[in-house]
Amino acid sequence: MASTFGRVRKAVIPAAGLGTRFLPATKAVPKEMIPIVDIPMIQLIVEEAVRAGIEDIVLITARHKEAIENHFDYNYEVEDTLEKKGKADLAEVSKAVGKMCNLISIRQKNPMGLGHAVLCAEPVIGNEPFAVLLGDDLIDSTVPCTKQLVEIFEEQKASVVGVMEVPADEVSKYGIVGGKMLTPRLMDIKQLVEKPAPQAAPSRFAIPGRYVLSPTIFQCLKETKPGKGGEIQLTDGLQLLAERERLLAYQFSGTRYDTGDRLGFIDATIAYALKRADLAPGVKEILKKHLG
Ligand code: G1P
Repeated sequence: MASTFGRVRKAVIPAAGLGTRFLPATKAVPKEMIPIVDIPMIQLIVEEAVRAGIEDIVLITARHKEAIENHFDYNYEVEDTLEKKGKADLAEVSKAVGKMCNLISIRQKNPMGLGHAVLCAEPVIGNEPFAVLLGDDLIDSTVPCTKQLVEIFEEQKASVVGVMEVPADEVSKYGIVGGKMLTPRLMDIKQLVEKPAPQAAPSRFAIPGRYVLSPTIFQCLKETKPGKGGEIQLTDGLQLLAERERLLAYQFSGTRYDTGDRLGFIDATIAYALKRADLAPGVKEILKKHLG
């Protein structure tokens, strides 16, 4: 039987946003389907969860997002055609995505904020711990960021959020945590503020979209009043959680890319292309050409 601080088997990926920051690309294509080189961003996020031992992905979705569900299904027409043409390798690339995980999607019918999106997953998560991964944050690391957090959760029997240090002039872009350092990387959180002004920030430790939470968060979210932007904020729900249970912040190892931002997206594209043995030499030539 699953228990509050048992094994983490499920992850919630909120993907209901309109993606207006990336218009016109997102007019007809869900922003989660935009690729970094040739892999849609949502697949990179799902791969991180799967590499952390997650089996069930709960996708919080919205109207016009069917392409995401199709991506994680089989595409019989493409796969069968490739096999008949003797291109079994390519057919396998397509099939492998279909086999990756169990995808359960839930519609968030009204955009009421990230906290509300996570609360929509309650009927599927039930009384189990779960991970949350936000799609605009790509984290490249040897041990997947979510796996680092799952290990802390299972060892400490406490909810944990991933954090990274940001410059003072960037705290207003993130949920910021404050509390007592237990070790150089681990903090006992006392306070969380969503997108504070620099002078109001309890620290410079920001949450870039990775969480492993006990199901108590659902009750906390139900009691959370609309906050910043009139939305139910996950950060505000986490403040209630920190008052009821232990909530930790872990400074993860890895490089984070903000792919919701145009320059962050270009940065991630170049970095991921340079990591590919088949592409790196060509990409270096292209960069040299453009930089003169
Ligand atoms: C959301 C969260 C914020 C978090 C950020 C990470 O904000 O509300 O706490 O730090 O994601 O990317 P958004 O960027 O969706 O406005």
